[in-house]
Parts: sequence; C-alpha cells; structure tokens
Amino acid sequence: MKPSRRPANPNFSSGPCAKRPGYSLAALQNALLGRSHRSKPGKARLKEVVDRSRNLLGIPKDYRLGIVPASDTGAVEMVLWSMLGARGVDALTWESFGEGWVTDIEKQLKIKDLRIMRAPYGQIPDLAQVDCDRDVVFPWNGTTSGGRIPNGDWIKSDRKGLTICDATSGVFAMDLPWEKLDVVTWSWQKVLGGEAAHGMLALSPRAIERLESYTPPWPLPKIFRMTSKGKLSEGIFKEETINTPSMLAVEDAIDSLKWAESVGGLKALRARSEGNLDAIAAWVERTDWVDFLVENPKIRSCTSVCLKIVAEGFDKLPVDQQWAQVKKIEALLDAEGVAYDIAGHRDAVPGLRIWCGATIERSDVEALLPWLDWAFAEAKTALPKAA
Ligand SMILES: Cc1ncc(COP(=O)(O)O)c(C=O)c1O
Repeated sequence: MKPSRRPANPNFSSGPCAKRPGYSLAALQNALLGRSHRSKPGKARLKEVVDRSRNLLGIPKDYRLGIVPASDTGAVEMVLWSMLGARGVDALTWESFGEGWVTDIEKQLKIKDLRIMRAPYGQIPDLAQVDCDRDVVFPWNGTTSGGRIPNGDWIKSDRKGLTICDATSGVFAMDLPWEKLDVVTWSWQKVLGGEAAHGMLALSPRAIERLESYTPPWPLPKIFRMTSKGKLSEGIFKEETINTPSMLAVEDAIDSLKWAESVGGLKALRARSEGNLDAIAAWVERTDWVDFLVENPKIRSCTSVCLKIVAEGFDKLPVDQQWAQVKKIEALLDAEGVAYDIAGHRDAVPGLRIWCGATIERSDVEALLPWLDWAFAEAKTALPKAA
C-alpha cells in the first residue's frame, strides 16, 4: 500500500541540494543585477558573503577566505596547481571525488613522490598512516560513499606539510578542526542549498606562505593565479574576485547564510543534519532490506547518507541488474513526486543516496522512509529474480 503522507519537499539530491525551508525567488529581488561586481555595492555584496561565512563557521582570524571561480572543483584545482610539488604528497581516496583529485595529482600534475591511500566504498583509509610532514589531500566527506573523516586528531599541530581539505559536503553540517586544516574548499550548492558556479577557499597562514615562497614548474591559467609578483593577491580574499561572478548567485548565497544565522548558526545546522541521519538510522535498524553503506557509525556522513540493499539475493544479481532495481526505485518515487535524484552516484556501488544536509527537514525524511519500503517492494516484483 502506498503511504498516505508525502514529504513536503521531494528534493533529496546531493547537489545541487534542496533550497532552505521557505525559500522563494522573492529573496533575490534586491540582487545587484546589471551592475559591476567592482562597484561599491557590488564589492559590499561579495564581502558580505565572505564575512557571514567566516562568522558562521568560526574561521580563525588569520585565515584568508575568498570567492573563486568554478565551484568547489575550481577551488580545489587552483590549490593543487598552485601549491603541490613543493614536497611529497599523501592523497586519501575512498570514493569518486577523492579519486578525481588523485587523477589530477598523479596523471595531470605527475607528482612523483605520491602515496595514494585508498579505501573501498564504505570505508576510509587508515588515518594513522598519514604523514603530515607531507602535503595531504583529502575530502572531509566522501559524498558518493557517505564516509567522512571523524575528527582532526590524526593531524599534527606542528606538521611541515599542508593539509588540503575538500570540505564541500561537510562544511556547515560538521565541525571542522580549522587549526588543523591549511586549505578548506567548498561550494554554495551543498549544505546551505545555494547555487553552484563559485567556490569558497580558506587558506591558513602556512598555505599563504607556500603560495608566496613556491613557484610550480607548470603554467598556471589566470583563474588559478593567487599571487602577483610573489605576493598574495589580497584582493581575492576580500571582495575582488578574479573574474566576474554571478551577482544573482551571490544574492542567493547571502540569503542562505542569513537563513543559517536565523536558525541558530553552525550548531543548529549540525543538529538539523544529524537529526536527519538519526531518523534514517532508526528506520535502517528496523528494516531488513537496507543497511548503511558505511558500517562504522563514527565515519558515517550526516549529509550524503548512502544505503545499500541487503535483501536476500540482491548481491547475487549482476551489477547492471542491481542498478536497474535502484533506478526503478528512483523512478517510482520520482513519478509519485515523493523523492528526486536518490539513486547512488554512478561511480559508487548500487544503492540509494539521500541528502540529509541542513536544508532538509526531518519531517520530510520521516515521510520519505515508508515510501522507500513501498518502492523497494514494487521494484523487486518488477524485476527478474536472482538466479
Ligand atoms: C566531495 C566533493 N568534491 C567536489 C565536488 C564537486 O563540486 P562542484 O561540482 O561544486 O565543483 C563534489 C560535488 O558533489 C563533492 O561532493
């Protein structure tokens, strides 16, 4: 039987993620459209994003924070291209995005002294093996597996290398140990439900020192360049973006930050996300066809919650049939207007992924869960049985 209650908001995609509760385009009516981003009011808007983000996240005063091109990917890649090569690199990967950074480091930048620390979907690498006197590149939250770094205890305070952290699906929903992180990147499109297009880049004093003291042997395109004549281009970390930003996306980011403040700041955002995970955990506990992809709760994400199907016979199906069943579940829920975009990432193992970041209401997660049971039962009957 179909459940009677539907989530009020069916948007459970892991990016772009659901807009904040109560969102309306009316919130953008004061956007500075048709004006220069270098005008006085334009710069004020850009500075507002930086200042509100810094305050909400409690970023140390001596860290620079700036808006950069090309979403989180742009922020990560400008750092890899600008900073790597000065010392050996430990690259941690346990899912698709970390793997993408490994490709950059190994195949594009061709860093010779590279240790790739890889773990399968559902796990993370052994953090005790990481050498923080080397540069360390890692996602904080692996969005496609739902495995996250539990804390910064493994990072030495007196490290010689730089810790370069892609935190795009963790920031605003998890505590980050800022003093242990030299580079942190994210995009507006994730936990706060903003728009993509621009990235945020936070740099520690040691990261800035690297930029000012090291010149990589490869060419740097203009959108990656953060220094001029050997000195940090300070303007990028105030309100002078490298190239033209979308002032509509900027206004949207301001709206999302104001919402985050209105619900109680970082602590409240975290609690919202953790509460959503709790709701799913209670259901997983009483449901026999499904389990978390990440078995260890200490490293289980509260934002990109990934589930595997453990019903008898499922693992015996060929992988394409497993995916077909997942896609069927997704399509059934889509057709009902109950949930969109909840199939696992194409690079992951077949399963479901439900975004539980701060813009998602717990009541919507709770309303979704009986529908998952319904869709699984329907999809199972519509597909061939395991041999
Ligand atoms: C961990 C991680 N890194 C990088 C990206 C790429 O982000 P963007 O498309 O905003 O550049 C994503 C997107 O989902 C992600 O989850």
